Amino acid sequence: MVSWKQVLTSSVGKKILNGLSAIGAVLFVFAHLGGNLTLLGGQAAFNDYAAKLHALGPLLYVLEFGLIGVFLLHIVTSLAVTAESSDTRSTDYEASQSSKGGPSNYGFASNYMIISGLFLLVFMIVHLVQFRFRHWWTDTIGQGAWDIGITGSDYYKHLYATVDWTFAPANPLGEFWVLFYCGVMLFLGFHARHGIWSMLQTVGAMNKRWKTGIYGAALVLGLALAVGFFWLPIHMYVFSPPPGG
Ligand code: HEM
Repeated sequence: MVSWKQVLTSSVGKKILNGLSAIGAVLFVFAHLGGNLTLLGGQAAFNDYAAKLHALGPLLYVLEFGLIGVFLLHIVTSLAVTAESSDTRSTDYEASQSSKGGPSNYGFASNYMIISGLFLLVFMIVHLVQFRFRHWWTDTIGQGAWDIGITGSDYYKHLYATVDWTFAPANPLGEFWVLFYCGVMLFLGFHARHGIWSMLQTVGAMNKRWKTGIYGAALVLGLALAVGFFWLPIHMYVFSPPPGG
């Protein structure tokens, strides 16, 4: 009998875990975009959303640990699948991919996924230090009107001001952060788009009949993510007044 260990360490098992963790990450990113869109409603709307999230108490920690697990699993299985496919890639394999309607630039695409994925990993570390763990390394949000004290686990009560300061024209690094975030969001959109259709190709859904629809759906989802996240830093920079303004 085949054991779980054999299934999970097999080529197909790794691809399935990679696909499942990708679905988890995409679901989180869409939920995060939904929550972040309350920034467009102003300070009260976003801080209210943050308060509701943190009212989950210990459940929020459970979800956060689950999320770390999903991202780690995705990174590890992505590296394993890429290493394996570059070992076993052959003319026959490429030929079979294109006969299934898959792309002939498979090597380029998988390299691109690894590079854009590494960019997203660096982004995520910077992002968490900035927004999630800010109270670990500073006791104030910013300068001037943003010189608001943040005390330990109450940091989330001023989350709107934290995001606002990051992308404010008054912040000496405001323009840099707007450009950095907007650039990363384009990578996110392409990574998600390619990830969605390559996952469907892995499970054999990419036949001639479904191909156009799947490409279209992946493009729409990737664009929705990129455009939604892309707009937020610009909106904060252009339209959000300083606290009390
Ligand atoms: C304009 C874009 C974004 C803004 C304004 C934003 C804002 C925020 C804020 C304010 C938090 C802190 C939430 C809290 O402590 O309750 C946060 C957490 C987080 N963000 Fe973002 N985010 C953006 C894009 C992204 C993207 C693209 C990703 C992933 C690819 C991401 C991943 C995360 C993660 C993993 C957390 C930690 C969640 C938690 O611990 O509850 N964010 N973000």
